[in-house]
Amino acid sequence: MNQLISISPDGIKYPLPKEEDYKNEIDRIEKLVAKARKKGLEIVVVMGLGFVGSVMAAIVADTTGKNGKSGKFVIGMQRPSTRSYWKIPKLNEGISPVKAEDPEVDPMISRCVLEKKTLVATFVYDVLKLADVVVVDVQLDYAKNELGNVRNGQVEMTALEESFDIIAQRIPAHCLVLIETTVAPGTTEQVALPAMRKVFRQRGIKSDPLIAHSYERVMPGRDYVASIRDFWRVCSGVNEDAKQRVVKFLNEVLNTKKFPLTVLDRPIESETAKVVENSYRATILAFLDEWSLFAERNGVDIIKVIKAIKMRPTHSNMIFPGPGIGGYCLPKDGGLGVWANRHILGFEDDTFRITPLAIDINDTRSLHAAQLVRDALRNMSVPVASAEVLILGASYREDVGDTRYSGSEILIRRLTEMGAEIRVHDPYVDHWFEFENQEEYPDNSKSIFFRNQKKLKDLQVQKDLKESLKNIDALVMAVRHEAYLQLDPARIVKVAGHPIAVIDCFGILDDDRIRQYIALGCEVKGLGRGHIKRIKDEVNKKKK
Ligand SMILES: NC(=O)c1ccc[n+]([C@@H]2O[C@H](COP(=O)([O-])OP(=O)(O)OC[C@H]3O[C@@H](n4cnc5c(N)ncnc54)[C@H](O)[C@@H]3O)[C@@H](O)[C@H]2O)c1
Repeated sequence: MNQLISISPDGIKYPLPKEEDYKNEIDRIEKLVAKARKKGLEIVVVMGLGFVGSVMAAIVADTTGKNGKSGKFVIGMQRPSTRSYWKIPKLNEGISPVKAEDPEVDPMISRCVLEKKTLVATFVYDVLKLADVVVVDVQLDYAKNELGNVRNGQVEMTALEESFDIIAQRIPAHCLVLIETTVAPGTTEQVALPAMRKVFRQRGIKSDPLIAHSYERVMPGRDYVASIRDFWRVCSGVNEDAKQRVVKFLNEVLNTKKFPLTVLDRPIESETAKVVENSYRATILAFLDEWSLFAERNGVDIIKVIKAIKMRPTHSNMIFPGPGIGGYCLPKDGGLGVWANRHILGFEDDTFRITPLAIDINDTRSLHAAQLVRDALRNMSVPVASAEVLILGASYREDVGDTRYSGSEILIRRLTEMGAEIRVHDPYVDHWFEFENQEEYPDNSKSIFFRNQKKLKDLQVQKDLKESLKNIDALVMAVRHEAYLQLDPARIVKVAGHPIAVIDCFGILDDDRIRQYIALGCEVKGLGRGHIKRIKDEVNKKKK
C-alpha cells in the first residue's frame, strides 16, 4: 500500500507516520519530559496545532517562572491527518505552521523549539499521559447545508466528542483540561463532563475530571501574539478545583496583570460570553447591509455617513461590512448558540431571531457585489460572461493571509457561475485552499451552492499587480489591503489598456479617485456608494 503523504503549503511532502513509528516517538517525548521534570517544569499538552493552538503553544512555552527560567514544557499534539500532519515536522524544525504578519510569531516559535527547547510537536495521543495541563485547541465546525440559511445547519460534534474521549482515556486524574475551542454553550458541563467522568469511572478514578473553559479572542494579523497573551480573558471551571487551577494557569502564561481575568461562575457562562461576543459583532455588521443598499439607491455615500456618526463616541465601533463577513468565527459562532438551544439544552421554541438572520445576511452579502460587477460591465456594453475580472484581495480582512469564509470567495463563485473569467491578486495569500481543495473536501466547500465551479480548482493567486491588470474588463476592490488604498487611477487604466469597470466593495476610493476613474472613461460602482452617480453627472457636465 502507498504511504499517505501530507503536503505543507511550501510544497514539501511529509510521509505520514507508520505503525512502528509510534513507539519510537513516545520514547523520544518521554525522555524530553523526564529532562523537563528534572528542571521542575510543568508539562502542558496543547491539542490541535492550528491558527490558535500553534501560537498558544509557543506563548506557554515562552513563559518564564519566578526564577526567570522557563516555566513550562509544551508538547504540541496534532493528529496525523493528510491535511495537517506537516505541521508537526515543520514546528519541530522551529518553523511556524501558521503564516503570520506579526513579526513576533516566527522568532518566538524558533526560540522555544531550537534555543529554549521548551516546545516540541508530536502525533502520539499517549503524550496526554504525561500532562499536567491539556489545552484543547481543536476546531469545531458548523456545517451549513444551504447558502444563507444557518438554521438548516449543524455543529460537527463527533470530532470534538472523540477528542474528549481520547483525553479522558489517558490523562492523569489531576490534570487540568482547559477547553479553548469555541463550543456550543452547554458543551463543557453537559457533553464533556459526563463523557469524561464515565471514562474516569471505567479507569477506576473516583474524582471528577478538572475541566475548565476559557475562550480565545485571537486575531490573526499584525498583533497575533498580543491578541492571545496581552488581552483580557474570561474563564470558568466545572467545579471549584478546576476554577482555581485555570485561574492559576492563565495567570502564569498570560499578561493578566495588565489584562485582568474575568472569572465566571459556570462554564456555560464563559461559553455563552464567546458566542454572544461574536454574535454581537456579526449583528452590527449585518445591520449595515440594508442601509448600504438604501444608500446605493438614494444618492447617499454610506462611508461618509458612517464617518459622521462615528464622531459620536457611543457609536465609534460602527464598521462598514465590505463584501461579506469572513474569518473562522463570525460566520459560525452564533450558529453554535442556535444549535445548542435545541440540541444540548432541549428547547423547541424559536428563541433566536436576530442572530441567525445576521449570519444569513453576512453570508450572502457578496452576491450583491457580484450584481454591481455585472451592472457596471453592462453599462460599458460588456457582458459579464467572458469578461476578464480582477479581484483585489482574497483574504477575509485587510493585511492578513487568512482566506477562511472570505467574502471574495462567494463573489468569485457567483461571477464564475455568470461566466466571468476570474483573476485574483493578494499580497498575503499564496494558496487559496478553498478553491484548490474544493474537490478533496466537497462537503466543506461552498462550490456545492453554485454551478460551473470546476475550473476554479486551478485558480492561482497572482502576486504581480501590474501583470494581473493587463487587459482586464473589470477591477473589483474587495479587501482593504494596504497595497490597494492609494492606487493611481491613471496608471491602472494605462496598464489595463482601456477604460474599465471599477467596483469598490469596501469604501476604498475617495471622491477624487472616483472622479478620475470616471473622467478616464471608466464605470464606477461601489457597495453603499450612491453618490457616484452625482460625481458622474458633474464630470459629464464638465466634458460638455
Ligand atoms: N482562528 C481564529 O481566528 C480563532 C479566533 C478565536 C477563537 N478560535 C477558535 O479556536 C478553535 C481552534 O481554531 P483554529 O483556527 O486554531 O482551528 P484550525 O482548524 O486552524 O486548527 C485546529 C487543529 O486541530 C487539529 N485537530 C483536530 N482534532 C484533533 C485531535 N483529535 N487531536 C489533535 N489535533 C486535532 C486539526 O488537525 C487542526 O490542525 C476554534 O474553536 C475556533 O473557533 C479561532
